[in-house]
Amino acid sequence: MERKMGLVVGGLGVIGRNLVDHLTKLDDWDVTAVSRRRPDFESRARFISVDLLDRRDCEEKLTGLRTVTHMMYAALQPRPTLAAEVEPNLTMLRNAVEVIEAMAPLLQRIVLTEGVKAYGVHLGPFKTPAKETDARHMPPNFYYAQEDFLRERQAGRNWTWCVLRPDVVCGFSVGSPMNLTLMIAVYAAISKELGLPFRFPGKPKAYTSLAQFTDAELHARATVWAATDPRCANEIFNVANGDYYRWEELWSAFARFFDMPLAPPQTISLATFMADKGPVWDAIVRKHNLVPHPLEQIAAWPFGDFIFGCDYDVMSSTIKARRHGFADCIDSEEMFLRLFAQFRAARIIP
Ligand SMILES: NC(=O)c1ccc[n+]([C@@H]2O[C@H](COP(=O)([O-])OP(=O)(O)OC[C@H]3O[C@@H](n4cnc5c(N)ncnc54)[C@H](OP(=O)(O)O)[C@@H]3O)[C@@H](O)[C@H]2O)c1
Repeated sequence: MERKMGLVVGGLGVIGRNLVDHLTKLDDWDVTAVSRRRPDFESRARFISVDLLDRRDCEEKLTGLRTVTHMMYAALQPRPTLAAEVEPNLTMLRNAVEVIEAMAPLLQRIVLTEGVKAYGVHLGPFKTPAKETDARHMPPNFYYAQEDFLRERQAGRNWTWCVLRPDVVCGFSVGSPMNLTLMIAVYAAISKELGLPFRFPGKPKAYTSLAQFTDAELHARATVWAATDPRCANEIFNVANGDYYRWEELWSAFARFFDMPLAPPQTISLATFMADKGPVWDAIVRKHNLVPHPLEQIAAWPFGDFIFGCDYDVMSSTIKARRHGFADCIDSEEMFLRLFAQFRAARIIP
């Protein structure tokens, strides 16, 4: 089997960490991951600490990565506005691509992870199911800037690109601003500690609208397919679990998992109402002997407010990926329960 060298850019995020984990289990891949932090877990992957916003740092720290065959990009710089997100996220991609391209003659493909925000899920109701051929929304959107850069850069080069568009990516990671699964589990723990029932905190219509998810492990398998299948060259694919759920269905399954009584939704801003719950969380950590993580580091409340505020259907079509050879799927309820159990086993939640 031909040996491959995968470079995971943003290797400690929800997407990147699960991708690194997957690649290290494959015999024919060597793996290097980059991020600013160092990992706090064992891995056969090589981790390089670099600030992608700093070109000189990239040139110094990424020197020597001559054998990279596939770059998988999942770094993220969140910013408070859509306009402010463009420049840093484009700079990070540009620095990674230009530095690696110059020193890795065997580079075959760059896989860029975008998301359903490419269809404007963050703006309000949009055409469903969203398809890869749908028109863009009114910019700015940093995904468009990144995608346009890759398209232009690729012309005349030996490598090709592939763009993946997952929806809410659910996986094991700590310290990510978009880890919905961990946020739900922490919200449940705080509610339980305060003697409250398990209530959906979002908008009432969001409780009954259709939602979809992308398991980070499934996304990792999709990324390997996107990186290696000739049919994926210069193509865009939606990646999702393959089912559509209403939160009301999931919420009752979650209540059973956390052993809490279920109550009707009550809309609150998690960012606002959780702002003073640090001491409650610290008490939970002590009581259950959990790995100590401050509340603001493990629970992505603004992301929760966004997802639970989507009071319209969120659906993308995965037909194109299936037709191009990726037919993987998973039941989303099973996925959430598996992840809650994983966070519990790691003593991150009670
Ligand atoms: N999570 C989701 O639900 C979701 C859904 C759809 C699409 N997406 C998209 O997928 C992509 C990745 O998202 P994610 O949720 O996996 O992000 P994430 O959890 O925030 O991870 C981002 C990664 O980028 C690294 N990073 C950030 N700034 C860096 C810098 N200056 N230099 C080097 N590394 C840097 C972070 O590590 P350090 O902090 O250590 O540097 C981390 O490894 C984004 O484009 C996002 O929009 C995410």
